[in-house]
Amino acid sequence: MTDLADADHPWHDVAALNQLDPDFPTGVEVQGQKIGLFLLGETVHAVEDVCPHADALLSQGFQEDGVIECPLHAARFDIASGKCLNEIGQRDLQCFAVRVQQGRVQLQVPPAKAGA
Ligand code: FES
Repeated sequence: MTDLADADHPWHDVAALNQLDPDFPTGVEVQGQKIGLFLLGETVHAVEDVCPHADALLSQGFQEDGVIECPLHAARFDIASGKCLNEIGQRDLQCFAVRVQQGRVQLQVPPAKAGA
């Protein structure tokens, strides 16, 4: 069962764990999808990187206390859950499965939805 799930959604190697900064997010791209990597404590979180409001990259925003603030108009999102914290953000962010293997950060990214 696990093998089939992995075949449908393979893991993508995106970064070295020791290159992630707890104060600054890292933007990566997998299968055409922009994804932000955030290091909270010892845990890496992967969240949709394009702000739903007007397409700014959240990985270029301001990270503090587990929250990312959009650099353009200050939409705020909880990094661990993707939850939108103020009205301008419009909706919650998609979160992606993360694993760390031998010091490498890997993501499972389902195909983008049509029109997304
Ligand atoms: S583009 Fe992010 S709040 Fe406007």
